[in-house]
Amino acid sequence: METPMKKRREFIKTVGVLGAASTLPSTTPAGVAAEGETVASSAKLAIDGGSPVRKTGLRHHPYGPQFFDDVEKQELLDVLESKSPFRWQAEDSKVLQFEKAYAAHVGMKHALGVTSGTTALYTAMAALEIGPGDEVILPAWTWYADYDAIVLAGALPVFAEIDESFNIDPADIESKITKRTKAIIVVHLQGTPADMSPILEIAEKHNLRILEDCAQCLGGRFKGKYVGTMGNIAINSFQLSKSITAGEGGAVLTNDSTLFERAIRFHDAGSLRDVYADSMGGGLLVAFAACNFRMSEFTGAVLKGQLQKLEKICGGLRRNARKVREGIADLPGIKLRKTADQAGDLGVTVFLDHGTEARRDYFLRALRAEGIAAAGPGGSVILPVVERIAKKTTVHPLWPSFNSTEGKAIRYGSECCPRTIDILGRHGGVIMDPNFSEDDINDIVRAIRKVYMAMGAA
Ligand SMILES: Cc1ncc(COP(=O)(O)O)c(C=O)c1O
Repeated sequence: METPMKKRREFIKTVGVLGAASTLPSTTPAGVAAEGETVASSAKLAIDGGSPVRKTGLRHHPYGPQFFDDVEKQELLDVLESKSPFRWQAEDSKVLQFEKAYAAHVGMKHALGVTSGTTALYTAMAALEIGPGDEVILPAWTWYADYDAIVLAGALPVFAEIDESFNIDPADIESKITKRTKAIIVVHLQGTPADMSPILEIAEKHNLRILEDCAQCLGGRFKGKYVGTMGNIAINSFQLSKSITAGEGGAVLTNDSTLFERAIRFHDAGSLRDVYADSMGGGLLVAFAACNFRMSEFTGAVLKGQLQKLEKICGGLRRNARKVREGIADLPGIKLRKTADQAGDLGVTVFLDHGTEARRDYFLRALRAEGIAAAGPGGSVILPVVERIAKKTTVHPLWPSFNSTEGKAIRYGSECCPRTIDILGRHGGVIMDPNFSEDDINDIVRAIRKVYMAMGAA
């Protein structure tokens, strides 16, 4: 059997001695290296008192606000000067302009601005007519809103495992399908597009609807198509941490006129205002009980400006992530987070698979000591282990989701997603920024190489 010592000797033989030898500390997790073993490394790690790669820390910042300029300023001034911040009274509505520009940008027929990604999800569920008795499959690792939208529609959430891309594992979807399954929420998580080909095949085979949640991947592509353009309906969020932002905001996208009309009606008190009714032949559907998730003209104005920066932001992220990947590609045994489409990936993360959680945590601590902000998977939650979800708590004891035979029988908690927990626990690395400079990129590469060399391959 291969021992950690033998593995380490082979690793050193492969990489060669890069500089002064250093000694790994006793704080390294079990399996990283035997205590006191001399290893090849270019310098003593900062976590052990060596000098850090960077004296001033490096971290990413919310993307959109870094690109605010006179474009957004002028759009906002237009709204102030018009004294018409309500979209239906604005003569030349910024929200409508944004909707049209956004739909055209991604090549879709219809886009609808709403107040947030969460309310976009509620709207999409209503458009898809999801309700009591229906089951909806979603990944075990995503944001609360995906689960809450299913429950608030009265339907039953069914979790599927993720794979090493952090996205829903197509291989796990089919085993979760029952005759009650109506839809799959495919979430393109932390900048990486989900593997849509097998998912679309499964949906077609079982006659299921697909809702794409693109909140964390706006501008991402799969096989040349923008995420959000492959399913029946899609949503987006423009909250601060997304590709472009107005602080808050959301959108629904679809090519299906019936889904679009239902979405419009649900987001606006059941009604279909003239601006839409005129272009939709007066509307086909009757009104139903609904909400108010209308977007303000101020939000529409900022998003109209931000949309013009989207490709620049995505381009910067992709370029910087590629440079870091190239700078560490030769490290022996290196395993990067999987992606279904490297060219379409947004490049939000450069994450490594460290083999175990202990090694991952040590790597992150060591990288931070070198002055580089390091993180594990983020922006989402392992939902089945959250207490309110594990306990199936709802706003009313008779809520339909968990009062059916299936709802009573379903069990959440860690036992329903062991692979998800394992995968997320062993990955970690650096979150990219579109404005990282050449020097920043070099520092990230140097720091990762330094720590990785000291630790050895997993
Ligand atoms: C995957 C995903 N879906 C939906 C949402 C909800 O978006 P919002 O915060 O705009 O309501 C988020 C927010 O972070 C998200 O990450």
